[in-house]
Amino acid sequence: AAPTRYQAENSPAVCTGTIDSNWSGFSGSGFCNGDNSTDGWAQFTVNAAAAGTATVGVRFANGTTTTRPAGLVVNGANVQNVSFEGTGAWNSWATRTLTLSLNAGANTIRLNPTSSAGLPNVDFLDV
Ligand code: GCU
Ligand code: CA
Ligand code: CA
Repeated sequence: AAPTRYQAENSPAVCTGTIDSNWSGFSGSGFCNGDNSTDGWAQFTVNAAAAGTATVGVRFANGTTTTRPAGLVVNGANVQNVSFEGTGAWNSWATRTLTLSLNAGANTIRLNPTSSAGLPNVDFLDV
C-alpha cells in the first residue's frame, strides 16, 4: 500500500524545538527544528493496520558537515541508532529508510538525538 505521511509540524506529532518554514523544499507547512541538545526530539504517532515489520522513511536536512546521531525509540524502547549525515544545505532534503517492528494500531516513534548538536531538521515520516 502507499505509505501514510505524518508531518512533523502536525499534531499529534511533538517537536521539542520550533516548527519552522525558513528553509525551502519541505512538505506540508513546515518542519521540526529540534533544540540543539539531547532534549530536542521529534515524536510521531503512527498507525499500523497489523503488527509486523514496517518500512519507515524519515525526511530530513542537515546543513552541517557533521553527522547527527539519534536513537530510534519505538513505543518507549530504543530499538536502533540512526545517523543523519550532512545533506549539503538546510534546504537540501534526504530520506532515510528504516525497517522496524510495529504493533497493530497506534505506535509512537521518537527520534531522540544522542549528541549535543541535536537532530537534523525533520520534515515528515512516511509509514
Ligand atoms: C540553523 C538552521 C536551523 C537548524 C540549526 C541547527 O540555525 O537555520 O534550521 O535547525 O541550524 O544547527 O540545528
Ligand atoms: Ca536545530
Ligand atoms: Ca513537513
